[in-house]
Amino acid sequence: MFNSLKAQAPDKILALMGQYRADPRPEKVDLGVGVYKNADGLTPVMRAIKTAEKQLWEAETSKSYTALAGEPAFHAAMAEMVLGADYPADRLACLATVGGTGACRQAFELARMANPDMTVWVSNPTWPNHLSILAFMKQEYKLYRYFDNDARAVAFDTMMEDLQAVKAGDVVLLHGCCHNPTGANLTLEQWGAVADLLEAKGAVPMIDLAYQGFGDGLEDDAAGTRLIASRLPEVMIAASCSKNFGIYRERTGCLMVLSDAASKDVTQGTLAYLNRQNYSFAPDHGARLVTMVLTDATLKADWMAELEEVRNGMLGLREQLAAELRQLSNSDRFDFLARHRGMFSRLGASPEAVEKMRVDNAIYMVGDSRLNIAGLNTKTVPLLARAIIDAGV
Ligand code: LMR
Repeated sequence: MFNSLKAQAPDKILALMGQYRADPRPEKVDLGVGVYKNADGLTPVMRAIKTAEKQLWEAETSKSYTALAGEPAFHAAMAEMVLGADYPADRLACLATVGGTGACRQAFELARMANPDMTVWVSNPTWPNHLSILAFMKQEYKLYRYFDNDARAVAFDTMMEDLQAVKAGDVVLLHGCCHNPTGANLTLEQWGAVADLLEAKGAVPMIDLAYQGFGDGLEDDAAGTRLIASRLPEVMIAASCSKNFGIYRERTGCLMVLSDAASKDVTQGTLAYLNRQNYSFAPDHGARLVTMVLTDATLKADWMAELEEVRNGMLGLREQLAAELRQLSNSDRFDFLARHRGMFSRLGASPEAVEKMRVDNAIYMVGDSRLNIAGLNTKTVPLLARAIIDAGV
């Protein structure tokens, strides 16, 4: 029967990872997959995570199963980080998931169980795997325009125009911060307008929060999410720990669902049921480390300090790249790179220009010209700037 299988198109981001690894040129620069790299091109284990791992190794006496929905202490620590200390515990159901992607998948599943007729609204562009998962689930989705390709900024008026067509019970997927792939984000005022619209429509926001702490800081990056959570009766939040705790391969994420207090227990039970149906228990190791870091004052302070170093490093690279390009292009048309936030910016280069940079300069970015700022260092920024100009961007 397996000879009836059709080859699946490879995931573009992961395929690029393979292409980069196979390139023998020593000067190659990987600006593809969204993984943080330090100035030496390494993705280190964060200090606080390493310490927590040592402590856990000493203290852990069993690897037996934990709770199906994940440990309550993990839920509480994540809810506090994402929603703030005064989060509404009486309305909040939480689920430990297989990374942020697992949280997205379970959110789609939950929403479909509650409303099989829903449409999911997704920004155009978005992280390609959002669309891939929705298509795989045969879940209807629609795109709302998000990005002004000329200004390299949020096309807010057109976004709001498109979202006028949202129906009650539809799910609207928003990126909490550090929009992937564009790097262009809503202002707090715009978040407020989105909240007004979704409230009026009776739609359910779903926030993918994969980069909290990588944009303007842990608190500021959660501001839009908190505003939505304070205003809307029902909200889903898919939070990832891959990037901000640097534990990509541990697959640690948390789905948070706000509903009315009377629905909380059934929602919580349904979330646990979804874990059981799809993969039973979520991985525990990463979730346990995150809980330890967030609940121990010393570990937390160290983690926050290191996260700030990472974030400021990326901001510095953004400034440097924008300055180099200002000089080389004799214009301010690349200044958006300093305004964008998070790991990514969409450069606005044609696929041909992206390919030219790969062939001529061994610079790897995603075909839509998304570049991972964290893949740069102070020495490679001038090389990239030169390549961008030479490719005619
Ligand atoms: C990315 O967008 O590069 C990351 O979220 C990694 C991934 O799984 O695609």
